[in-house]
Amino acid sequence: MTVWLVPPAFECPFPLQPRVPGITRWTWNKKDKKGVSPVESAFVAGATGYVGRHVVLELCRCGLETVAHVRPDSPRLEHWRGLFKRQGATVDCTPWSERPMEATMKRLEPGMVFALLGTTRKRVRADAERGVDSSYQAVDYGLTSILLHACKGAAHKPRFVYLSSLGAGPRSRNTYLKVRWRVEQELESSGLPYTIARPAIITGKDREEMRPAEIFGACLGDSLLGLARGLGGNNLSRRYRSTDATTLARALVKLARDPLAEGRVVLSEDLRP
Ligand SMILES: NC(=O)c1ccc[n+]([C@@H]2O[C@H](COP(=O)([O-])OP(=O)(O)OC[C@H]3O[C@@H](n4cnc5c(N)ncnc54)[C@H](OP(=O)(O)O)[C@@H]3O)[C@@H](O)[C@H]2O)c1
Repeated sequence: MTVWLVPPAFECPFPLQPRVPGITRWTWNKKDKKGVSPVESAFVAGATGYVGRHVVLELCRCGLETVAHVRPDSPRLEHWRGLFKRQGATVDCTPWSERPMEATMKRLEPGMVFALLGTTRKRVRADAERGVDSSYQAVDYGLTSILLHACKGAAHKPRFVYLSSLGAGPRSRNTYLKVRWRVEQELESSGLPYTIARPAIITGKDREEMRPAEIFGACLGDSLLGLARGLGGNNLSRRYRSTDATTLARALVKLARDPLAEGRVVLSEDLRP
């Protein structure tokens, strides 16, 4: 005779410690009344950028609780609020400094955090004319570093997904890549679960901002790589060919939820289907 101390169909209704990456809490699923179901949650820094917008969209499409971060001084704050709300995300406007960001991470406890921030030389020049420092050091390193420290202070350590770049490495020469490598190093020694993505050029017709050099580079590069592929240089093409934000966003969200992608540096060939 079998004696059940706990009925076989019993599912614990109390909050459980998450064992699945990206899942920070478990809630009663009112919809299907099956019992306890996980809620995955994500925080996107750089949500207003080309990649960030697609990541927010993809997270919402996958049914994740999504918080899109928009800087409080954004001149298009209301536009972003409306757009992200329609997509099913909520907007957070925590200022870019350590204490407030730490408090936000403690409050939200996201299961995954996407760091998709970055400036451009054009922006650096324009901001410098207004006396604002938006250098690679200040934005690409500085803001990502604030986010990283804030995540370290949270009770539940989120998976930190960092959008780096192809070419980042110990021998990086230019400032942009040096900064990316520095963030990668700090992330790897942070103790946080992480995934680093190093895509090649990210471009697409749906990028709002005109970036002629990027478009030209992608067109020329992709044509030459197409030629190389014809001559047997398939691996070269897979690594250096450009990618669009939809494809990249899908890959980033998938990686963020994949236990096997924890602690990995993912190169551009693995950021495409
Ligand atoms: N484009 C490429 O070919 C390529 C290739 C590999 C890696 N990446 C890296 O991928 C990341 C995302 O690329 P992307 O094309 O999505 O960039 P993007 O469209 O230029 O977006 C950049 C994001 O960073 C934020 N940001 C920039 N300066 C800021 C500042 N001073 N204060 C607060 N926020 C600031 C922007 O916010 P606002 O909208 O409020 O300004 C925006 O959300 C970048 O770090 C880039 O370097 C790019």
